[in-house]
Amino acid sequence: MSNETHFGFREVDPAEKQGLVNEVFSSVASRYDLMNDLMSAGLHRPWKEAMVTTVNPPRGPQPFALLDVAGGTGDIAFRVIEAGGSGTQATVCDINAEMLAVGRERAEKLGHNVEFIEGNAEKLPFPDKSFDAYTIAFGIRNVPRIPDALKEAHRVLKPGGRFVCLEFSTVDVPGLDRIYDLYSFNLIPAMGRAVTGDAESYKYLVESIRKFPRPQVFADMMTAAGLRRASFRPLTGGIVALHSGWRL
Ligand SMILES: C[S@@+](CC[C@H](N)C(=O)[O-])C[C@H]1O[C@@H](n2cnc3c(N)ncnc32)[C@H](O)[C@@H]1O
Repeated sequence: MSNETHFGFREVDPAEKQGLVNEVFSSVASRYDLMNDLMSAGLHRPWKEAMVTTVNPPRGPQPFALLDVAGGTGDIAFRVIEAGGSGTQATVCDINAEMLAVGRERAEKLGHNVEFIEGNAEKLPFPDKSFDAYTIAFGIRNVPRIPDALKEAHRVLKPGGRFVCLEFSTVDVPGLDRIYDLYSFNLIPAMGRAVTGDAESYKYLVESIRKFPRPQVFADMMTAAGLRRASFRPLTGGIVALHSGWRL
């Protein structure tokens, strides 16, 4: 069986994919947050809020440890800290130093005490059973070996801990699928060129969305990694889906 994975629509070796993905995020890091707002017309905000509602950190002083993997510039970690009580702590882990540097700067400005750690989702630098929740937003489709990342999520979660993943999904609403294709294959790379000077990175982002498994296939991958009660909820006509599972 071939070990090939995809970098956008291209078949590549997993080791090569990670290098190419890292180039994408190093190239866009300084404009990443602005581009998120532009590309999604602000929709990434309510999607992320829906994710935080699912994570549901306690409002009181009880300890709650969140690990946000592929956490980039810190959006999910900041939102969970803001929603949670005084016992809520967040750690962001990302493979890209440039994205983490933007995140650290934002945390300082917002006055949030978040730990930023460089690491690979496929081999997390944390002990077993350390976190109450594991989140990954728009991150898992960039990881070359998704089954390894899911096993690591299961390993670092405490029993009773929750896995929550927000990812682009499959638009199944007739009509919306055509508009979405036109928008993403034409306008997004053009916006990327205008704002970051880099259309290729945004072409990769759009292609990688199309290559990500359908939500039920991803739910089955979660189950295969040991996560239980795997479920998903499409948002905005399936443009994204919120996946949930538990370590029991
Ligand atoms: C689209 S960004 C998402 C950032 C953030 N979660 C958000 O929602 O705004 C994808 C992130 O995945 C990170 N990433 C890619 N491969 C990774 C890996 N193997 N392990 C950890 N992070 C990875 C990238 O560096 C990038 O910061």
